[in-house]
Amino acid sequence: DWTSDSFVETTVANLKEKLGQDKVVLGLSGGVDSSVAAVLLHRAIGKNLYCIFVDNGLLRKDEFEQVLESYHSLGLNVKGVDSKQRFYDALAGLSDPELKRKAIGKTFIDVFDHEAHAIEGVAWLGQGTIYPDVIESVSVKGPSATIKSHHNVGGLPDFMKLKVVEPLNTLFKDEVRKVGKTLGIPQEILGRHPFPGPGLAIRILGDITPEKVDILQKVDAIFINGLKSEGLYDQVWQAGAILLPIHSVGVMGDERTYEQVVALRAVSSLDGMTADWCHLPYEFLGKISNEIINKVKGVNRVVYDISSKPPATIEWE
Ligand code: XMP
Repeated sequence: DWTSDSFVETTVANLKEKLGQDKVVLGLSGGVDSSVAAVLLHRAIGKNLYCIFVDNGLLRKDEFEQVLESYHSLGLNVKGVDSKQRFYDALAGLSDPELKRKAIGKTFIDVFDHEAHAIEGVAWLGQGTIYPDVIESVSVKGPSATIKSHHNVGGLPDFMKLKVVEPLNTLFKDEVRKVGKTLGIPQEILGRHPFPGPGLAIRILGDITPEKVDILQKVDAIFINGLKSEGLYDQVWQAGAILLPIHSVGVMGDERTYEQVVALRAVSSLDGMTADWCHLPYEFLGKISNEIINKVKGVNRVVYDISSKPPATIEWE
């Protein structure tokens, strides 16, 4: 029967045989799947694995620097690419959620294709695809799905013509985490909540500006750090904050103010297909709300989302 030790042993041996001295390029997202796939491939082919981690300007606060640092400590050959401005330019003026997703997908492809071209003689595209991604017939997730839906016209980018290697494509999520543990990947990476590819862009309702991203990053960091310090993070499947496109009235001294509203969302789930809102302690929610309102300029109201999926989705758009 299946053990992560034997999986690692046979997979590394198979990858060595299959890849030989070939070069592989892989896009890291900071998430569990791409991280485990990278470390596994690195075991097999070492420096011939070229990882690319793109800062799309839509990540959590300080996430790019922190995750890049963990990848370096894992010994990965990883290039961090700051493309924040390109993504903001591509998103400028777009409010429709699907147009935002498309702009992000296309910009990612352009950046990744450029970076892949810089690796001389690269022969393979590595991907962190897991079994549920394989069987999910209509998937909105992951770079490859995005690529497929946006490059039906005009031909594929060059990196899509590479041979594909997907060492995790027979595994479920819990098995991926076990494999990651066997490989010595730190819990701070393996235990991370899922985070959507388009990142904070689909948690800022309406159009995206760097100023809005900055506000949401601050709010989100207070919420997530609070969950961690209260020991609640591991009980939650996914959590985050949403910046609403409305201003609500508040009072400051004798003045009425109109400032922004944020919603907090935390859900429990097994696979993201259905989800329940988390019954977080009132004291905790009160504390987080105070901290957000006191520390984040421009926000005067915090609400908590108490809807379950279905019919509400986990994200707001
Ligand atoms: P929903 O909002 O559909 O989300 O209940 C289910 C899971 O999918 C994630 N999600 C996305 N992931 N690209 C992604 O990579 C997307 O466009 C996208 N939309 C939603 C969501 O965060 C949750 O984990």
